[in-house]
Formats: sequence, structure tokens, C-alpha cells
Amino acid sequence: MMMDGRVALVTGAAGDLGEAAAVRLAADGASVAVCDLPARTDALAAVVEACRSANPAASVTMATFDVTDPRSVEEALALVIDQIGVPDAVYNNAGYQGLFANTVDYDVEDFRRVQDINVTGVFVVLRACANALLAIGRPGAIVNAASMAALGGPPNMVAYAASKAAVLGLTKTAAADLAPNRIRVNAVSPAFIGPGMMWDRQVELQAATPSQYYGDDFETVAAQMIDQVPLRRYGTANEVASVVRFLLSDDASYLTGVNIEIAGGAS
Ligand SMILES: NC(=O)c1ccc[n+]([C@@H]2O[C@H](COP(=O)([O-])OP(=O)(O)OC[C@H]3O[C@@H](n4cnc5c(N)ncnc54)[C@H](O)[C@@H]3O)[C@@H](O)[C@H]2O)c1
Repeated sequence: MMMDGRVALVTGAAGDLGEAAAVRLAADGASVAVCDLPARTDALAAVVEACRSANPAASVTMATFDVTDPRSVEEALALVIDQIGVPDAVYNNAGYQGLFANTVDYDVEDFRRVQDINVTGVFVVLRACANALLAIGRPGAIVNAASMAALGGPPNMVAYAASKAAVLGLTKTAAADLAPNRIRVNAVSPAFIGPGMMWDRQVELQAATPSQYYGDDFETVAAQMIDQVPLRRYGTANEVASVVRFLLSDDASYLTGVNIEIAGGAS
């Protein structure tokens, strides 16, 4: 199978996109560590079961840590390495959308929190996993979760847009720094992926936050968002998982430092 012999680590695995990717990687033969905050342990246990149902032969383990806390990341990674080996297929997926408010009203503390989770968290996990690969001299692949919000300037999302643009810069530099060690680093930028928490939350909060760009009820805003997408539908978590699996696999062996837009043609 496509990911036989590989060891995957997925952060934010209790969430929609993380779960879909973890299940896909297990189904394709990878050993998988599903990771999220300690508060998401029950949801993670269900993801472990889903991975095992997809492939009863797969080794699946769970790890809990806060991506912004380097010590908890390194301690959890050491346990993962003991259980299933050094991850060589890392999906740096944990993220937080932040509040919805006009730039001039946006809360500074929440702005910092969004950067901490979405940028520092990606950096901390990437750094720990890359160092673990360097220690054993093995190649690997890392995919960072960016977003079309990095490129499209979505209203009322200044912290999130800034954080995802930072992920694109981080990805390019990490790709250059790690290329000599055969560790590839790429990014994915989904647009509107649903149904699910982040899609529903975005539609609800755009509807509740005044702007000239969107209406003020769920159905109107959902339709306005879909109208921005040439394929005229939102994407599915499985459609993101397919691209992530491709970038983590040897099929993408000559790709590093790229960002794949998963956006139904939206820009
Ligand atoms: N769903 C979309 O439409 C969409 C679009 C573009 C980008 N993205 C990005 O894809 C990723 C996953 O999105 P999703 O829709 O699955 O979101 P989600 O909210 O369902 O899942 C995010 C997960 O990250 C975890 N998390 C948050 N803070 C954390 C921390 N400090 N430490 C560890 N884990 C933490 C949460 O507990 C949650 O399980 C995010 O980075 C998001 O920004 C999603």
C-alpha cells in the first residue's frame, strides 16, 4: 500500500480534517499517532477506533499535547517514537480560527493566541519531528496546514489570515533548510471545507459580524461563500486528506516548499 512502512503523526486529529487524514493514512498502511489537546482525549479515542476499523493491521497510538508547548510536544513525541517509531509523515494540522471582528476591533490577546497556535505550534511540532528524523538520518515529509485565508483577505479574520500567511513563509524556509536532509516540507491551503465545525463556525460568525461582504443569516452567508467557488460547492474533509496523503507519500518525492490550494478554483 501507498504508505506501507511509514510512520504518520497528525496533530489536531480530533478535528474534522485531522481525523479524515489519520484514517486515510492508516487505511493506506501507515502506522499513525493521532494527537490533540488533553481535553480532546475522548474524541481522539474514537479516531483511534476509526483508524483501526479502516485497517485492522495498522499500528495506531494516541498522544496528547498542546502544540504551543515545546516541552509537552517533545515528551509526547518520545512516547510516540517508543510505540511506533520516528514519524516520517507529519501533518501539522492543529489550528484555531480566532474571533470574527473588523480589524480595528480585533482583540489583541486573541490575535496573539491565533499566532501562537497556528504559527508557533506548527513551528514547534515541525522542529521536534525534524530533529527526531535528523537524529536517525532518515528522510521524511511534513505538511503544514495553511488556508486560502492566507491569500484571499477574508473580512473579519485578520488574525487567522496573518497566521496562515506566516505558515506559507515558514514552509518555504523550512523546506530550504531541510532539503539537504531529504525532509520535504509543503503546505495545503483549503478554502471552504464542510460540513463541519470550522465551516459552520465561519458561516455563523460571518453572519453575526457586520460587513459589506456578507448577509446576516446562515443560509445567505453559506450561499455567498459557495458563489465564490467556481466548482459551486464546499470541499470535503476527504478531498483534503487525499492531497495531504499525496504530499506525504513518495508520489510527491520531487515536491518541497509548495503550497497546494484545495479550493474548487477559488482564489
Ligand atoms: N475546515 C476548513 O474549512 C479549513 C479551511 C482552511 C484551513 N483549515 C485548517 O485546517 C486545519 C484543521 O481544520 P478543521 O476544520 O479540522 O478544524 P477543527 O477545529 O475541526 O480541528 C482543529 C483541531 O486542532 C486542535 N487544536 C487547537 N488548538 C490546539 C493546540 N494548542 N494544541 C493541540 N491541538 C490543538 C483542536 O482541539 C481541534 O481538534 C486547521 O489548521 C485549519 O485552520 C481548515
